[in-house]
Amino acid sequence: MTEQLAVSKIKEGTVIDHINAGKALLVLKILGISAGSKERVLMAMNVPSRKMGRKDIVKVEGKFIGEEELNRIALIAPKATINLIKDYEIYKKFRVVLPETVEGVLTCPNRHCITNSREPIVRRFNVSMVDDSVVVKCHYCGRKITEVDKYIVST
Ligand code: CTP
Ligand code: ZN
Repeated sequence: MTEQLAVSKIKEGTVIDHINAGKALLVLKILGISAGSKERVLMAMNVPSRKMGRKDIVKVEGKFIGEEELNRIALIAPKATINLIKDYEIYKKFRVVLPETVEGVLTCPNRHCITNSREPIVRRFNVSMVDDSVVVKCHYCGRKITEVDKYIVST
């Protein structure tokens, strides 16, 4: 490791590295971490990275976050790497994979969409890559979301 350590190592938990610069707060939102959460979280924003220029890092101590939840991060940070840590050692390292569908994590921008009515419907979106950008389409009304950042809700 040639880069200077931006935040200290953790004993146990989940490290999300190589997050696109500026997206760490949205990563926390996707993971449902906000004011009042009890998790111990270390975070760095806009730190220098050899591969990315600048990047963000999020470390959640004492918690092994599930793969399905982590893969949602690919919506906003497709190059994020996950490191699962036990006793200071990395025992698993993998890249996030863009899911084909996501449930619950986004809201539909279409006011008339059935998911925005009072019906208790689980919001679902179909996800694809078009020319290097993530395209998300509402399963119910077909509305496309191009600026995914704006429609993320905490889960
Ligand atoms: N890390 C941590 N606590 C540990 C071990 C590692 O917080 N006990 C973090 C490191 O700070 C880094 C990430 O986990 O952010 C990956 O660690 P490592 O593989 O050692 O770093 P790199 O070689 O730079 O990673 P990569 O190959 O993914 O670029
Ligand atoms: Zn819709």
